[in-house]
Amino acid sequence: MKTTLLHLPSIIFLLSLTLPFLSGAANGRWQLLQKSIGIVAMHMQLLNNDRVIIFDRTDFGLSNLTLPNGRCRHDPTEKALKTDCTAHSVEYDVASNTFRALFVQTDVWCSSGSAVANGTLIQTGGFSDGERKVRMFLPCNNCDWHEMGNALVTRRWYSTNHFLPDGRQIIIGGRRQYNYEFHPKKQSEYKNPYLLPFLVQTNDKGAENNLYPFVFLNVDGNLFIFANNRAILFNYRNGSVLRTYPEIPGGDPRCYPSTGSAVLLPLRNLEAPCVEAEVLVCGGAPRGAFQRRLFSPALDSCARIKITDPKATWTVDTMPRRRVMGDMLVLPNGDVLIINGAHLGTAGWENAKKPVLEPVIYKPNGLVGSRFVLQCATRIPRMYHSTAVLVRDGRVIVGGSNPHVKYVFSNVTYPTELRLEAFSPYYLDPLYSHLRPVIVSPSSHASMRHGEKLRMVFEVNGRVVPELVTATMLAPPFNTHSFSMNQRLLVLSRGKVRSRGNSSCEVVVTAPSSPLLAPPGFYLLFAVHQDIPSEGVWIRMH
Ligand SMILES: *[C@@H]1O[C@H](CO)[C@@H](O)[C@H](O)[C@H]1NC(C)=O
Ligand SMILES: *[C@@H]1O[C@H](CO)[C@@H](O)[C@H](O)[C@H]1NC(C)=O
Ligand SMILES: *[C@@H]1O[C@H](CO)[C@@H](O)[C@H](O)[C@H]1NC(C)=O
Ligand SMILES: *[C@@H]1O[C@H](CO)[C@@H](O)[C@H](O)[C@H]1NC(C)=O
Ligand SMILES: *[C@@H]1O[C@H](CO)[C@@H](O)[C@H](O)[C@H]1NC(C)=O
Repeated sequence: MKTTLLHLPSIIFLLSLTLPFLSGAANGRWQLLQKSIGIVAMHMQLLNNDRVIIFDRTDFGLSNLTLPNGRCRHDPTEKALKTDCTAHSVEYDVASNTFRALFVQTDVWCSSGSAVANGTLIQTGGFSDGERKVRMFLPCNNCDWHEMGNALVTRRWYSTNHFLPDGRQIIIGGRRQYNYEFHPKKQSEYKNPYLLPFLVQTNDKGAENNLYPFVFLNVDGNLFIFANNRAILFNYRNGSVLRTYPEIPGGDPRCYPSTGSAVLLPLRNLEAPCVEAEVLVCGGAPRGAFQRRLFSPALDSCARIKITDPKATWTVDTMPRRRVMGDMLVLPNGDVLIINGAHLGTAGWENAKKPVLEPVIYKPNGLVGSRFVLQCATRIPRMYHSTAVLVRDGRVIVGGSNPHVKYVFSNVTYPTELRLEAFSPYYLDPLYSHLRPVIVSPSSHASMRHGEKLRMVFEVNGRVVPELVTATMLAPPFNTHSFSMNQRLLVLSRGKVRSRGNSSCEVVVTAPSSPLLAPPGFYLLFAVHQDIPSEGVWIRMH
């Protein structure tokens, strides 16, 4: 007895030494990947060859990465440099942690894009000579940007894109554009864009607050479009507004430049007669904050709405940190990661302070009041013009941040940030090795048709609890300005999990029944066991 008591303080001392490590592990881990990728990671898209396409803008001045083979961009209309021999785009290879310079020929600043059905990235718009351009990037070795000319009917700067069930993408809004168009176009669509009066109605004088609107494909095939502080359900095929949702509680703006973020929460019970869909909007800035430029405290609220519910209302939750310019990413197990951003101010040049260094995980199925889990802090501010994308191994690649009109590396509080980091959420910690599944089948780049049954085999280095196995599939989003376009996680319906020996299991899952649920394209398929996801496997939905 006496001995135990005597040893108690030393046990507590030992615990206090190990606890920070353990809590660090349970709350994620940061890793510096590159000291400099030479450009600002302002836009990012993961392609199905596990390369991330990254770009900033051609009117920033000289980047820190020289174009190979003596190539230069000569552009007499360019405002910054008529001749620029530096890169403004790179391809980052996740597996080898290497990158190479890419060559964009016109300005891609504040643009948008989408990976389309065949896995190609189709990027649209930008600024100046790039504002009506469509560009293509194929997921192949040593490929580069391919420009397709002025293929847009109007300029698209700060627009939002979404992939569609018919394999096309829609391009919505943008600065002074209260309309939308498609790519590719039908014969009749080359002259004029389609009007979207909702973007006139949500345009605030002096701030706009409706740029980069939050767009999601609802399960009924219509688009949920959120701009400023409210949303509609929109039939883009005939231009009719089917529903107007209630204004978000508090009424403060959530879209650029009062930039919050939003996700479509994981779609579940896909074989139910009425699949439900919910949207979560987090952070933003108080009304007037952009015009006042006084670094107002950002919003600390998240609002959630079941968009398929005829009497939908918002329910509000409070985040552990205020956040403007946060990125929201749906993780393979259905958790939502809120990462990057600032405590004070709004988007725009020199308009934010006090970076939020800690990500937060939101558990959609947690009890109200205990849904948020604060994560470990990074040391690198990621504010205006920063990005985050999930990669196949479950990490989140984080890059960018530049609140300045040019590249500025010294004598400022928030220098232009060229470093690339990875955030590893808790599920990657060795603590969970015994739970983590490894997918044996299907093999990489297998095809899947809507409604088809797919046999999945996976292994777990421990005991499997069959009731706690799910399969999910995720569309890889295009991320810029705190919004991840096309982000969509589907929880697949599954049959019984059959064990094959101690550690190998088999389960038959059902592909989403319709392209309204899962538009054609490449998705990452994950096995999730007791909340711990496997590495993803690329599958192609036809
Ligand atoms: C980028 O280049 C500038 C000038 O060449 C240099 O001062 C700066 O340190 C570089 N920054 C990084 C992060 O490599
Ligand atoms: C992929 O689709 C795009 C858009 O429809 C098209 O322009 C491109 O040629 C296709 N690429 C391949 C390799 O088939
Ligand atoms: C658009 O289509 C929807 C659904 O098919 C229909 O209910 C609506 O009346 C149509 N609106 C217009 C303006 O054509
Ligand atoms: C650094 O910034 C301050 C304040 O803007 C300015 O007065 C000073 O000249 C700058 N110094 C250098 C070396 O650029
Ligand atoms: C399964 O696990 C049991 C108990 O740990 C062990 O005795 C048996 O050999 C294992 N079987 C296989 C096929 O690994």
